[in-house]
Amino acid sequence: MNEFKPGLEGVVAVETEIMEPDREGGSLRYRGVDVEPLVGHVPYENVWGLLVDDDLSSTPPDPEPYEPGGLTGDAPGDLQAEMARLAGVWNLGKLNEISDDGAREDLGRLSAQMSAIAACSARVADGSTDPVPEDVVEQGETLAEKFLLRWKGEADPRAVKAIDTYWICTAEHGLNASTFTARVVASTGANCGAALSAAVGALSGPLHGGAPAYVKPMLEEVERMGDPERWVRDALASGKRIMGFGHRVYRAEDPRSRILKRVAKELGSPQVDLAEELEGVALAALQERHPDRVLATNVEYYSAIVLDVAEIPPPLAPAMFACSRVAGWSAHILEQKRTGRLFRPSARYIGPANRPLSEISGAPVAS
Ligand code: COA
Repeated sequence: MNEFKPGLEGVVAVETEIMEPDREGGSLRYRGVDVEPLVGHVPYENVWGLLVDDDLSSTPPDPEPYEPGGLTGDAPGDLQAEMARLAGVWNLGKLNEISDDGAREDLGRLSAQMSAIAACSARVADGSTDPVPEDVVEQGETLAEKFLLRWKGEADPRAVKAIDTYWICTAEHGLNASTFTARVVASTGANCGAALSAAVGALSGPLHGGAPAYVKPMLEEVERMGDPERWVRDALASGKRIMGFGHRVYRAEDPRSRILKRVAKELGSPQVDLAEELEGVALAALQERHPDRVLATNVEYYSAIVLDVAEIPPPLAPAMFACSRVAGWSAHILEQKRTGRLFRPSARYIGPANRPLSEISGAPVAS
């Protein structure tokens, strides 16, 4: 039990009923349901219901009237701040003091605000100061359409399909860094706003959830150079990671990547051909470099291409991820509340042995 596992790789820290990955790359199931047939048949908000309530007819409520305070236009930062702020504005109860139904209600209310606040923040980033009237937003049939209406005042059907597909594919993925964060915070009995705010913070870096923001500039660089093979060779030689490749869990192509690539083609993405060419070259180079480890395309690579069809600017990508993953976070927070235990792993001390204060730099000199 005392074996040190950097990054907790392979350590089973919770038991879950929420999602099951097929490590060899065949499929991904939400509560036992294969994700692939959901895309195009059920909108994202019902997938939220499947994950949170095990009920495809359940959805988050409509967002309550709420004026976010001082949006900056940096959507991931705004979401993180607003989730914490809403906990205070709504006086949310602590998870160890409220009922399971109460927690479910809080998570529904917060989930509804996630995409509404992301849209308002994106609007601020575009330089618009006036919000889109609510009756215009309400004309949207799906959450993806409402998101676009709230952001731009209009919703192109291709962009709606792109966002809906992306949100379904990324709604949940087990005990990744942000979900683990949500569960750790929930395990302390904090309120749901605090747990979701912390989870948003955990996906702002490039190694989890943020990669689409780097994939598009990477493709533009490759296009400018006009030689994908040379680009990959140079990148690997200089120690760079190729964004959108590799995964902690999958040892084969991520099944979500397959769905996203198909939808990118259906939507006539102008970048999908270049992406496929770079994918082939990168896979061959990575395999040559790491023959003992499968470094395949992950969800983030074709997410970037699909999000580009919806004209999502790269800095908005982590917020788009938060809008979808709030489903998985909510389901895990509820599961943690019902079955979990306070997280408290151990650290192995490898610092200096007992030593006198006089050995420490800056210690006061004895008079
Ligand atoms: N490009 C180039 N090399 C990569 C790589 C990539 N995308 N992903 C992993 N590697 C290499 C590492 O450099 C390392 O090589 P080394 O043993 O010679 O040092 C080896 O493969 C193992 O990497 P490791 O960091 O242990 O893998 P991991 O399982 O911890 O990492 C990711 C998983 C996703 C963090 C990692 O693959 C990565 O950084 N990918 C790029 C970012 C990305 O796409 N993020 C989105 C994730 S969904």
